[in-house]
Amino acid sequence: SRITLRQLLDHAATNGYAVPAFNMSNMEQGLAIMAAADKVGAPVILQASRGARVYANDTVLAKLIDALVEIYPHIPVCMHLDHGSTLASCVTAVQHGFTSVMMDGSLGADGTTPADYEYNVSITRQVVQMAHAAGVSVEGELGILGSLETGMGDQEDGHGATEKLSHDQLLTDPDEAARFVAETGVDALAVAMGTSHGAYKFTRKPDGEVLAMDVIEAIHKKLPDTHLVMHGSSSVPEFLREQINEFGGDIKPTWGVPLEEIQRGIRNGVRKVNIDTDLRLAATAAIRKTLVTAPDEFDPRKYLKPAMDMMRDQSILKFEAFGTSGQA
Ligand code: G3H
Ligand code: 13P
Ligand code: NA
Ligand code: ZN
Repeated sequence: SRITLRQLLDHAATNGYAVPAFNMSNMEQGLAIMAAADKVGAPVILQASRGARVYANDTVLAKLIDALVEIYPHIPVCMHLDHGSTLASCVTAVQHGFTSVMMDGSLGADGTTPADYEYNVSITRQVVQMAHAAGVSVEGELGILGSLETGMGDQEDGHGATEKLSHDQLLTDPDEAARFVAETGVDALAVAMGTSHGAYKFTRKPDGEVLAMDVIEAIHKKLPDTHLVMHGSSSVPEFLREQINEFGGDIKPTWGVPLEEIQRGIRNGVRKVNIDTDLRLAATAAIRKTLVTAPDEFDPRKYLKPAMDMMRDQSILKFEAFGTSGQA
């Protein structure tokens, strides 16, 4: 059945676990994630980005969720808007049955330049008023995702792709976070501590210099009752990179966020962990392998089924690692 983000994360906080939030833009991802959740008895957050909504159409996404909820009535499902950029994008998500929206006001009105604090508070507060009136939860974001190694903002979303950012802009300030939550009333807060979207997060195994988990600890001390969200939290497993490259791909050497760092976050208030890249890598590894090893195949189901199986296995791994298994 459907559940709001607030209900789900309140349960996660009480019981000391986190829920992976998987990006979804097609049926295969949806079926794979739900199969994993059913196998281990985990609640689910499915999230659609602006790109996913353009790709799949809001009506398709809405009916897909209806179908998944109907197939698995015993699994709590939160349908979340990932990185909403305007009040209108949040309103239309609510109209399509989303039970949670993210208003990412961290990038300012044009979606690319660092927002001033007052803009972020004011747009996020408007979304909270609208969404709460409709019984829908809200995630806000304070701080800019990006690399502490290079000072560059997140490249994937075109966020701050050209200008170099300061250490301060790339790390959420704990005092400002406390003010932001009080002034906006958000149900969950995404924070910045050195992660970025996509496969290329770190050039080496991240330590405290490039992945500042101590910032999460400091925020959690100021905001012990606020559900924290980690974006850019794929682990980028080496075996998936190897399988893609073995079958004709070209993914450069890279590091993601180690599961044990996420587990440290979960001990410090992290309740929602955003994962997109790892399922993309899993699907691509399976599809490449099938197409190369069976070059005479041309039935899409023949490569999409292995893709679903590998996405299911990656999803199970997250549910197990984050303590989500058995909580449905
Ligand atoms: O926020 C980033 C997610 O990975 C979604 O990516 O905008 O390509 O759908 P996307
Ligand atoms: P990854 O690119 O690390 O999977 O992060 C996804 C994300 O944060 C979506 O909002
Ligand atoms: Na989100
Ligand atoms: Zn994100």
